[in-house]
Amino acid sequence: MEYTEFFADRVKSMKGSAIREMFKRMADPEIISLAGGNPASELFPGDELSKIAGKILMTNPTLALQYGTTDGYPKMKDCAIARANKVNAYNAERDAVIIMTGANQGIDLTAKALLNKGDKVIVESPSFIGSLNAFRTYECELLGVTVEDDGMSMEGLEETLKNNDGVKFIYTIPTFQNPTGVTMSLEKRKKMLELASRYNVMILEDNPYGDLRFSGEDVPTIKSLDTEGRVIYAGSFSKILSPGMRLGYIIADAKILEKIEILKQVNDVHTPMLTQLMCVEFMKKYNIDDYIAKNRELYGKKCACMIENMEKYFPAGKVKWVTPEGGIFLWCECPTIKDITPVVNACLEKKVAIVPGSNFAVDMGAPSNMFRLNYSSATLENIAEAVKRLGEVLTELL
Ligand SMILES: Cc1ncc(COP(=O)(O)O)c(C=O)c1O
Repeated sequence: MEYTEFFADRVKSMKGSAIREMFKRMADPEIISLAGGNPASELFPGDELSKIAGKILMTNPTLALQYGTTDGYPKMKDCAIARANKVNAYNAERDAVIIMTGANQGIDLTAKALLNKGDKVIVESPSFIGSLNAFRTYECELLGVTVEDDGMSMEGLEETLKNNDGVKFIYTIPTFQNPTGVTMSLEKRKKMLELASRYNVMILEDNPYGDLRFSGEDVPTIKSLDTEGRVIYAGSFSKILSPGMRLGYIIADAKILEKIEILKQVNDVHTPMLTQLMCVEFMKKYNIDDYIAKNRELYGKKCACMIENMEKYFPAGKVKWVTPEGGIFLWCECPTIKDITPVVNACLEKKVAIVPGSNFAVDMGAPSNMFRLNYSSATLENIAEAVKRLGEVLTELL
């Protein structure tokens, strides 16, 4: 049967993420993936969480298995607020919090609450494909602004705001951005707030990687600098505990979350109670910051290993990158070519998966000479081996 005529216009032109497509090919166990965004599974607290889950189901099955409230289990909301308080992203007088089934859901429902067809959203270019695709489903126009070594170009942002009516919000991942790994400077964060206020647009600050700094100094969240209630803040437990537990949260002025809560009720009623309860117990019993510190240390080592091997095996002067101070991604540009696709394909032949830059672009059809590398999920040995093979491909094709 042919189904095209049945699809809604808004999904007809949508393409799946190449990363997800790549995951299908990665069923081949020999492939070393530098493609996904998976945290290091070797550090997952599996034993601790299995004991916690068992105890919850033995002692309080009703709470774990019954429906819960849409905004989240109250103690889980406290956990989210505790994380947000560490970066001053929660204003107790004004804000509310809703536990989301991953930050992804929070970003999607925020867009759903704010966007009419034809509205405009300013995004970093490149940006996280999950959010770009979420925005695309609301038939809005995405306006990309270049990412510089210290975050989104403020000249670009000002120009875009000046030249466009109908901008609803700016979407930004200011800390260890996906895919570039760069962090926005404090000056730019202040400037973004000032521009958002002057042009009366909202800001959606997405901060799943903020806890993962392994060098340099922390920069305040945009939310912490916001005096007007203009910033909606998305947080996540995916990169600090487990992505499979699907725990994220949105913090914003209670008047905004009132609407988003209704959308969540429609969407999935509430985030699974079992994983909420597991997270609460984990945070009660253990110091999650100790666990995060272990991750930070490992990611620092893995990032250093990746860069050391890039310096050793990449053809000299032909690949540019910015060394990240945290997070899980490294972004590379090959200025001597126009399209990275042959490199990506040749890497797959050598059983190494990387993601082409076009995936993160506002215009996904345009060729890109960039690619993203992930250093959190592969082992140190595999990072070294994969970068060596990637270096061989680059030496041959650049
Ligand atoms: C920038 C960014 N935002 C949000 C998410 C989604 O996080 P979650 O697993 O909490 O849905 C990711 C996941 O990779 C991400 O990179």
